Amino acid sequence: MEFKDKVVIITGAGSGFGAAAVRKFVDEGANVIAADINEGSLVDIVESVAAAPGTTVAVTTDVTNRDAVQNMVDTAVKQFGTVDVLINNAGGGHPPQFLHEMSEEQYDFIFNLNTKSVFYGVQCAVPVMTENGGGVILNTASIGAKSPRPKSAAYNSAKGAVVVMTRALAVELARFKIRVNCLCPVASETDFFKSVTGQDAMTDEQRKFFTSDIPLRRMTDPDDVANAMVYLASDKASFLTGISLDIDGGKSI
Ligand SMILES: NC(=O)c1ccc[n+]([C@@H]2O[C@H](COP(=O)([O-])OP(=O)(O)OC[C@H]3O[C@@H](n4cnc5c(N)ncnc54)[C@H](O)[C@@H]3O)[C@@H](O)[C@H]2O)c1
Repeated sequence: MEFKDKVVIITGAGSGFGAAAVRKFVDEGANVIAADINEGSLVDIVESVAAAPGTTVAVTTDVTNRDAVQNMVDTAVKQFGTVDVLINNAGGGHPPQFLHEMSEEQYDFIFNLNTKSVFYGVQCAVPVMTENGGGVILNTASIGAKSPRPKSAAYNSAKGAVVVMTRALAVELARFKIRVNCLCPVASETDFFKSVTGQDAMTDEQRKFFTSDIPLRRMTDPDDVANAMVYLASDKASFLTGISLDIDGGKSI
């Protein structure tokens, strides 16, 4: 069990990639702080991993609120003594919309949720990691950061900032033995899709559209992302910092 006694904070843990990551890390023996704005989804995920070797504690957290993020980190320290890994994964998109037609409120919402949340996570967790002698930070960006599509400019730019912030933090925090990497998944049929489109599920036509330019002809499975998170957080990746890993079935080639 690679993460036995390691303390891992995962935001956006109630659904999709974050929930898959909770399952993988507790299977590897980690003590996980599962953070999400949706309290109900956290109850479900904590129940579903009750028999796993690791421990999971739910902390209802709005990652756009500094005090809430501080409380999330404080809870990790109080419950488990430190923070070894912080996964800034919570995020979300917007319905297809031209940037020049988007309201300022919507723009601020997208940047607060996807980018400023990483700033809060770093501000609250880095002092603990520094005291701990090091750590790992992972940020969930998106392949849209590298291959933007029309009507997604706000979301794609917010994730683009996460990619650059990851590289900047990698050089900034290396002196504290903190590695920083990010993940760039392609489309996945998680609740993200529902929240952006208002649909319950993709139609076959949409699935065909999303996979048509992916050489491996499928979308991201949440476990694809969770497996990459486990690897990047582990000592096997001890010389990797500042990378943005495309999890995209070859789409960006
Ligand atoms: N699904 C995709 O197509 C896709 C592709 C690339 C990147 N991403 C990114 O991956 C990450 C996870 O997405 P997902 O697909 O698992 O989506 P999801 O909607 O299934 O899960 C996101 C979780 O974040 C939580 N959340 C939303 N706002 C929050 C807030 N303010 N504070 C705390 N938690 C909050 C939601 O309650 C939800 O549980 C996001 O950053 C998303 O932008 C998703």
